Amino acid sequence: MSDTNEQWVEVATVDELSPGKMKRVEIDGHRYLITNAEGQIYAVDDQCSHEDVSLYLGCIQGKNIKCSLHGSRFSLETGEPLEAPADEPIGTYETRVKIKKVLIKTHKFP
Ligand code: FES
Repeated sequence: MSDTNEQWVEVATVDELSPGKMKRVEIDGHRYLITNAEGQIYAVDDQCSHEDVSLYLGCIQGKNIKCSLHGSRFSLETGEPLEAPADEPIGTYETRVKIKKVLIKTHKFP
């Protein structure tokens, strides 16, 4: 059953997100990081769970994103941190490619 508070939002074109590229977008006041890691598109929170730092400033390593401040890596698939100091996951969001556009599934914020 679909949740009426969910929405698919267009965030990029496929051409913008070649492998290894990142883009950050803000939707309803929430920051998302869209990445192409090893040919797969992922969407996660653009905020480290350790401190309020943009993960856009970090780098992609395999299918993980590494925070630029203290070096914790997060799985782009699950959002789980792979090492300290971060110990909380970041949010992950479904992605879809439709007619060369990248969409992510987000919650509507009131
Ligand atoms: S702010 Fe990201 S690991 Fe500390």
